Amino acid sequence: MKLTFMTRISAALLALSSMLVGAAATPINDIQNLDLIDRAEQNKTAPKVFIISMFTPEANVWYNIPDFNLLARNITVPGFSPLFPDAHCTNDGSICELVTGEGEINAATTISSLVRSSEFDLTHTYFLIAGIAGISPKIGSTGSVTFARYAVQVALQHEIDAREKPSNFNTGYFPQGAEAPDQYPTSLYGTEVFELNDNLRQLAYSFAQNATLNDTSEAQAYRANYAGDSELAPGASAPSVILCDTATSDNYWVGSLLAEAFENTTTLFTNGTGVYCTTQQEDNATLEALLRGAISGLLDFSRIIIMRTASDFERPFAGQTAYEALFAEQGGFDVSVTNIYVAGVEVVKGIVDEWDDQFEAGVKADNYIGDIFGSLGGQPDFGLGSHFGGHKAPSARSLGRRR
Ligand SMILES: *[C@@H]1O[C@H](CO)[C@@H](O)[C@H](O)[C@H]1NC(C)=O
Ligand SMILES: *[C@@H]1O[C@H](CO)[C@@H](O)[C@H](O)[C@H]1NC(C)=O
Ligand SMILES: *[C@@H]1O[C@H](CO)[C@@H](O)[C@H](O)[C@H]1NC(C)=O
Ligand SMILES: *[C@@H]1O[C@H](CO)[C@@H](O)[C@H](O)[C@H]1NC(C)=O
Ligand SMILES: *[C@@H]1O[C@H](CO)[C@@H](O)[C@H](O)[C@H]1NC(C)=O
Ligand SMILES: *[C@@H]1O[C@H](CO)[C@@H](O)[C@H](O)[C@H]1NC(C)=O
Ligand SMILES: *[C@@H]1O[C@H](CO)[C@@H](O)[C@H](O)[C@H]1NC(C)=O
Repeated sequence: MKLTFMTRISAALLALSSMLVGAAATPINDIQNLDLIDRAEQNKTAPKVFIISMFTPEANVWYNIPDFNLLARNITVPGFSPLFPDAHCTNDGSICELVTGEGEINAATTISSLVRSSEFDLTHTYFLIAGIAGISPKIGSTGSVTFARYAVQVALQHEIDAREKPSNFNTGYFPQGAEAPDQYPTSLYGTEVFELNDNLRQLAYSFAQNATLNDTSEAQAYRANYAGDSELAPGASAPSVILCDTATSDNYWVGSLLAEAFENTTTLFTNGTGVYCTTQQEDNATLEALLRGAISGLLDFSRIIIMRTASDFERPFAGQTAYEALFAEQGGFDVSVTNIYVAGVEVVKGIVDEWDDQFEAGVKADNYIGDIFGSLGGQPDFGLGSHFGGHKAPSARSLGRRR
């Protein structure tokens, strides 16, 4: 920003000095140069929606669709994954998509690179994180489409192997700086919990409800195994659209005990408001990178949607071991990737179709949005209180002034 501004000033000074000396070199050229620089600045791609995929199967559902062509323009972005170097956009740049690569490190690095890229103006962009996830059968079934308000980094904890844990612990995981699993962490890294715009989430939810979700007999047959246990019976129901939260961990866990431990962590970290439901490996990292972009005034944190579709259950059914559950052919994968498109396209079209009437100006959040430190200002409704006395982080304040 600063460089461009300086460039423009020097071009203007150059134009002015040419005029003053009345040199033969026509000032018109310099004014044209100035105009060119202005246009280059304005020429940034300004997507209305940016779809964030994490790996190839999630990305492929968006290509070769009747609704729009994301392969019309490829924009190489320095810092993207070597496996997925390009952002893919429609010809007019109104809808774009990228692939982060899997896990928290890939997600954070790719999104940081996007946020700082000079190719894009993201100040009005809606981000649709659209990936598959594990699901708790207490909440829903494979093929379901979920929209999260909270993202919780559940494995950011101490861990003692269960064989060595104190006998009064129900799990080997306990929060950093705490002495037992049920104590709030006292050592916070800032990425433990993020909260998103609930009003926007409700709109996305209503768009997705218009979708006819895909299902297969294979997925139906497997999920029927959960019907016998009343607590896990929601796992046997048909796919649906659900409002519930998401847990991030690089560690791909399976089993009733870890699932229950992280369910408890979600409750603890969100002070009781989070609804533990899906499990994935990226979202808190993506959100931290987006948060930092928001601090720099490069994007709007109230324009983020997390949509996770369920590909597998994170715990076994009665009589099955955790190990068997991990390797079972659950039949949920194809259904979950199909439903990323089936439900996600309703959200994308909903935003683009109602851009002028509603989305360009933004959807006002009535709930707290941001991280556990309160970096964007306000008081989180979870955690230990704003790190910044309810104000924006100092870096957000100074950067905000410069813009
Ligand atoms: C604007 O972007 C288009 C497409 O990326 C490019 O062809 C054109 O040269 C750019 N114009 C300016 C003034 O930078
Ligand atoms: C964009 O990249 C994809 C492969 O990732 C390719 O299939 C497509 O043809 C490219 N589009 C253009 C306009 O080059
Ligand atoms: C991760 O992000 C979710 C959703 O925004 C949030 O609820 C959760 O607290 C975050 N977890 C961590 C550990 O940052
Ligand atoms: C649902 O689809 C119908 C028919 O295509 C459309 O008229 C309606 O506006 C849609 N509703 C939402 C919430 O997208
Ligand atoms: C959805 O499920 C059906 C089976 O019920 C399957 O035949 C079909 O191919 C799936 N649709 C898509 C778009 O994959
Ligand atoms: C989860 O919390 C409940 C209620 O405090 C407790 O009974 C249960 O043992 C905990 N589960 C695990 C695995 O920590
Ligand atoms: C969340 O719970 C912790 C631990 O009980 C408490 O210290 C903190 O004040 C609570 N935060 C909010 C916003 O209620």
